[in-house]
Amino acid sequence: MTGNELREKFLKFFESKGHTIVPSSSLVPHNDPTLLFTNAGMNQFKDVFLGLDKRPYSRATTAQKCVRAGGKHNDLDTVGRTARHHTFFEMMGNFSFGDYFKRDAITYAWEFLTEVIGLPKEKLYATIFYDDNEAHDLWLELTDIPKERIIRLGEKDNFWSMGETGPCGPCSEILIDRGENYRCDAPECAIGKCDCDRWLELWNLVFMQYNRDEKGVMTPLPKPSIDTGMGLERVASVLQDVSSNYDTDLLLKLISYIEGVTGLKYRRDEKGFPFRVIADHARSCTFLVADGVLPSNEGRGYVLRRILRRAARFVKVLGWDGPFLCDMVPVVVELMGEAYPEIKEKQDYIRKVIRIEEERFHETLQEGMKVAGEIIAKVKQGGLE
Ligand code: GLY
Repeated sequence: MTGNELREKFLKFFESKGHTIVPSSSLVPHNDPTLLFTNAGMNQFKDVFLGLDKRPYSRATTAQKCVRAGGKHNDLDTVGRTARHHTFFEMMGNFSFGDYFKRDAITYAWEFLTEVIGLPKEKLYATIFYDDNEAHDLWLELTDIPKERIIRLGEKDNFWSMGETGPCGPCSEILIDRGENYRCDAPECAIGKCDCDRWLELWNLVFMQYNRDEKGVMTPLPKPSIDTGMGLERVASVLQDVSSNYDTDLLLKLISYIEGVTGLKYRRDEKGFPFRVIADHARSCTFLVADGVLPSNEGRGYVLRRILRRAARFVKVLGWDGPFLCDMVPVVVELMGEAYPEIKEKQDYIRKVIRIEEERFHETLQEGMKVAGEIIAKVKQGGLE
């Protein structure tokens, strides 16, 4: 199943359960000063959860563009090192605004995973917030997960919030055991204890119940609600039976492009680090520019500049001089332009913005090298005080 087919199946499934398919919101949460970038599907519904905004639907489903770089959920420095971290990724989710709660959320998730996309039931686990006996009993009642595969975890793992403030609540995650081949070397490698590639988190079901304010005080929401998040790339990696998100059809074409241009072969070990970083950053830069962010020295523009220059540094590591990332924009568009038409429409503009920033980076680098060369020469001649 391709990534595009998976996205479609998810949205259609929830539509068949009475959910309205709502388009992804912009990566720039214009009305929310607490957030740098959209980092989860629920962001665009924050005020609906809080009871401040009303929509003509009480159930929604989305495939949401997310960037986790800067802010509470920041994965920038991990990207490329692991099989599953990204600055840009897609989050599929279903939402209930005071409509259904834990029971239906668990039922739908189980049906989608085991019947629609056919994941093996015997490999699935559920984690729950340590004292959430209700969720525990519902997993037992509604699914085939036995009690040994329901794991109680603490706040760090099973209490979700979008930022320091805002809607939040205990959550329950569905994990898949990818088998011994994926286990790490830790002697203690076990579900709930180890975060390695063996125990892959697939889907987070958040039981939205509170609003947390600046002082950390939690007030109950007007109505208990549901917010879920499932990373498209991760599930695609399981369905396509590959060990890394970078080997799914959602990203591999970008890696192949880098191989084609540089003439270098991609390696799946640490030597492939630059390829993964460039592929990931090509997507985030394309989408951020499409949503109106421009490289600058502050705020969102600064994060974009950091991502873009990080990619440009790795392009250099691969022995390539000059603009590179800008020419990957059409590849991103080919892969994702149907689901996100804005990148297709703004393709030329996006290429131009990225090219200018890449050129600037190279100029800065060359000037820096020149100055460094002069200093070194002076030191060698003993002329520097
Ligand atoms: N909002 C749920 C999640 O991002 O995991």
